[in-house]
Amino acid sequence: MKQLSRRIRNVSTSRTVQLSGAIDDLRRQGKDIVNLGIGEPYEAPLPHVVSATIHALQRGEIRYGPAAGLPELRHAVARQFEGYGAHNILITNGSKQALYTALQVLCDPEDQVIIPKPCWVSFCEQIKLAGAAPVLVNTVAHQLDCHAIEEAVNERTKAIIINSPNNPTGAVYPGKDLKTIADLARAHDLYLISDEAYEAFVYDGLTHCSLFDFPHVRDRLIVAGSFSKTHCMTGFRVGYAAAPGEIITAMARLQSHLTGNVCTFAQYGALAATKRDPSHFDRWRNTLEKKRDITLEILKDLPCSTPNGAFYVFPDVTRFLKKGESTEALATEILTRVNVAVAPGEAFGGDGHIRICYAVEEEQLICGLERLAQVFNQRKGALQK
Ligand SMILES: Cc1ncc(COP(=O)(O)O)c(C=O)c1O
Repeated sequence: MKQLSRRIRNVSTSRTVQLSGAIDDLRRQGKDIVNLGIGEPYEAPLPHVVSATIHALQRGEIRYGPAAGLPELRHAVARQFEGYGAHNILITNGSKQALYTALQVLCDPEDQVIIPKPCWVSFCEQIKLAGAAPVLVNTVAHQLDCHAIEEAVNERTKAIIINSPNNPTGAVYPGKDLKTIADLARAHDLYLISDEAYEAFVYDGLTHCSLFDFPHVRDRLIVAGSFSKTHCMTGFRVGYAAAPGEIITAMARLQSHLTGNVCTFAQYGALAATKRDPSHFDRWRNTLEKKRDITLEILKDLPCSTPNGAFYVFPDVTRFLKKGESTEALATEILTRVNVAVAPGEAFGGDGHIRICYAVEEEQLICGLERLAQVFNQRKGALQK
């Protein structure tokens, strides 16, 4: 039998999607799993979002629609981007597809794409699927090392991916560093992909700074945004790309052959979400900030820089590992011994760390964290002997 394509053999399954499957299996076996492993807010979408989706379904919004998305939704999303109209927006199946499509449209086989690491699990694999090569550049205390990024640029570099607030570290990059990256992209004629899936979650009185805030790079910038996290709509699969018209037209051409439109009635739900009362964001952000603080307090024995955004902490667990042990092995032990799911750092290029998602219900969060603290206490004792 002939082999499957090199392209797919070269790509691994998303570690977090795999973990989700393992958790479902354990739950089916009756295990009471506290899931701090998957990056998903536990809350339901707002009632008006659910009813707009149901009404769309009831009035027969069940047909193919325009491949690039409902015009009303494209208009509504464009309002967030000064000077942009519907033709600058592509509605995608989650921001995951916006990122995938952007890379397919930008990259040729000889190209390289720079990503600061640790980074979200799908970037490297999506770059490989576009035939290009990921170039990972270390961060310093989870912040951008702009000098190292510039050093990594060569004649093959096509684009830089920036993700702020960051998954898995929760780091928020300050405007001055983003401006340096913007200047660098312009100087070296590079595209910029800005993954802003967590834009709504910035704490400690800071504000989200987008690469879109720098007009001199808007001609080379693709912003990937999502309804998943901001509006608790992960299962709706609605995201978008915002970019210059010619890039969006190229991305829409690919989408027309790939999936066609995003689920029509889900897009009506997303349209309703754009009309959400902004005070709801504030309340929710405050709740998440409190949960972040609870997490850092219960796990105070683990070295961890305070994340200013997203809904993850990414502590360094190196000193709790047995000789030669990976965080993958540690996460498996935690899952089987105390029924708590966490994501291993290796999945994100962050060896020696684990990622904990705190966007879960508070009682569950505290229960999971206390079980984790117990494991680390026992390990500390055992390793000191
Ligand atoms: C950094 C980052 N980008 C993109 C995504 C994709 O999200 P979605 O496809 O649900 O919009 C995720 C999901 O976890 C993420 O963490």
